[in-house]
This record gives sequence, structure tokens and C-alpha cells, in this order.
Amino acid sequence: MGGTNRSRLIGVPGHPKTSFYSRPSGSVPRRAESVAAAFSHEPVLCDEVLSGLDPRPGSVIVDATLGGGGHAAAILERSAPDGLLLGLDRDDAALAAAAVRLAPFGARARLVRARFFELASVLEAEGIGPVDGVLFDLGVSSHQLDHAARGFRFADQGASETPLDMRMDRRDAHTAADLLAHASESELERWFREYGELPGSARLARAIVERRRTAALRTSADLLTVIRAARVGGGRKHHPATLVFQALRIAVNDELAEIEAGLEAAIEALRPGGRLVVIAYHSLEDRLAKRTLRAAERGCVCPPRAPVCTCGRPPRLRAIERRPVVPSEAEIRRNPRSRSARLRVAEKIEVRS
Ligand SMILES: C[S@@+](CC[C@H](N)C(=O)[O-])C[C@H]1O[C@@H](n2cnc3c(N)ncnc32)[C@H](O)[C@@H]1O
Repeated sequence: MGGTNRSRLIGVPGHPKTSFYSRPSGSVPRRAESVAAAFSHEPVLCDEVLSGLDPRPGSVIVDATLGGGGHAAAILERSAPDGLLLGLDRDDAALAAAAVRLAPFGARARLVRARFFELASVLEAEGIGPVDGVLFDLGVSSHQLDHAARGFRFADQGASETPLDMRMDRRDAHTAADLLAHASESELERWFREYGELPGSARLARAIVERRRTAALRTSADLLTVIRAARVGGGRKHHPATLVFQALRIAVNDELAEIEAGLEAAIEALRPGGRLVVIAYHSLEDRLAKRTLRAAERGCVCPPRAPVCTCGRPPRLRAIERRPVVPSEAEIRRNPRSRSARLRVAEKIEVRS
């Protein structure tokens, strides 16, 4: 595994040699320190992630949502002296910050710019066989939320300077503003209904289409004005803007398809006895995680009334926790963003043919 004592960061533009960047273990340039300091994200349910993954010396663990590398650092500490961590993120800012934070672990941390869809091909390219654990800490990082220029947040303050961007991977072609400018009314309605579960989705989609005939929606303030005027979201405990921004973020980043593909690739990549840990932050993510894990626990896809199984699909996972693990009150007080977290753990089982 990685012959030199260097951490590797692969596929991040702006770094030397365009796609491959290495730095001697432990040496962190001053500019890089400020990159890491600017990226603050407290890892959620960190002890529970460690007990779910159970990393040991020599373990090979994939962190599919590297972010600032908080969970990754804890996993590397627990798997010392020779555990390997493969960290994936589609966000170049996250990877740059994680590379700094994980530099002390040298070649034990391999960081790759990739999305969930690419998990299987990254493992193959890295020559990594069945793995001992995979972590998905879904959603956006505090860094993405806190940096107004990324366009994920909708606070009134500064909204007129906050662009409607929301791309996790800034190489992607379409921002939230592009979707609002070009999507059909029925597509907008479907996103708000399915991804935001927003009462009044059709009314908001119509209001957006009417507004864009006279002026494009470019900033958070533009969108907030239309949301307020359309008077949508009644009866939901979340502010309508929360639901609308969630829906757009999911559409811009194709998040649900990514999660489905990523979980499937992760289940395939695990060795028997390997662990899958998923942290979800809203009900759509959690339902998708639960449905995918339960389907893999069941195996069989025959209709429930079929007298005998004809599909022959064996179970691939065993649930470790039947109910999702949630943060303690102390953690929520310390880190309010952990409030909605739901963690699920499952173990790969030997597939008998
Ligand atoms: C909640 S943060 C992870 C924080 C991290 N666990 C830590 O301790 O700092 C989620 C990260 O996953 C990344 N992400 C979300 N969806 C992704 C996808 N489909 N492919 C790759 N990365 C993704 C985001 O860019 C973000 O940096």
C-alpha cells in the first residue's frame, strides 16, 4: 500500500501536477494551515461511528464523505499503526482541508476527488480489494453552509450577495440559478414536492416561472422574495425556505441517485464481517438509507405473496442496530447541527450461493 511516506491527494485542480499531489508526512505549509482553519466541521456522532465501523490496526476503511476529515482522523487514530483510509469527496475545498488535517498520517490517508457513483472504479484504480468498513456522513458540511459564496444557505442577512450556486463539485455545469432559469414548471413542482415535501409546490413553481419572465433569480434574496410572495409551506415544522433550498440542493447535486448508487457500491465492496455506517440528516436521506439497507438484509425480491422464492437473491447485510442511533442532548447542545442526525449500522454477511 503506497510505497512512500507521503499523503496523496488525487484529482484536485490547483495543485501541482494537476491530478496528483503529495507532501512529506507531517509538513504542513502555512497557507495550508489557514485552509484547514477556515474549514471547521465538528464530526457528528463520532464515538458511535467508531463503534459502528470498529476500525483496528491494519483495517482498510473508506470515508465516502471526507469533508474536513474529522471522522477520517478519528478512524486513522483508531486504526494505527498501519490502517489505511481511502477518503472521497466531490468538493475540492473539502479535499484541500482534509489533506492538511490528515497530513500527519502520511501514506495511511489516500484522498481522491470523486463522487459516490465512482466508488467502485476508485477502489479498482487504487488496487484496494474488499474493505473493512465504509462511512457515509451525508449532506453538506459546515464549511459549505457557512461560506456564503457556495450558495447553500438562505439567511436573510447577506442574502442579496449570496449566489444561487449549491454545487458540491464546482466543475458541475449547472448551478441552482441555472435550474431555476431553465427547468420546466412541472419539473420545478416535482422537485419541491418530492425533494422538499413542500406544501404549495405547484404554486411556488408557477411563481418562479412568472418571475423569471421579467428577471432572472440570481441570489438567495431573489428566491426568498418569491417564496414569501407565494405563501407556501403552511403546516410544516420547517421554514418553507429550508424545504425549498433542500429541494434545490438535492436537484443540483443529484443527491438521491448518488446515495443509492453509493450505498450499493459500498455493500458490494465490503468483505464479509465488514461494516457500513450511514448518517442521514433529513427524512428523505434516512428513508433511502433504511430502504436500501433493509433490501440488502432481505435479499429476496419476490412478491410478498409468492409461495416460494424464485429470485434466489441471498441476504447481503445484517442490521447491527434495528433503530437509528441519535445524538445525545449534550452533543446537540455542543453542536446544534447534529440535531437531526440518524445513524444506521449494518454488517456484510457471507453470501452463500
Ligand atoms: C457532512 S459532510 C462530511 C463531514 C465529515 N464527516 C467530517 O468529519 O468533516 C459531507 C461531505 O460529503 C460530500 N459529499 C456529499 N455527497 C457526495 C457525493 N455524492 N460524492 C462525493 N462527496 C459527497 C460533501 O461535499 C461534504 O464535504
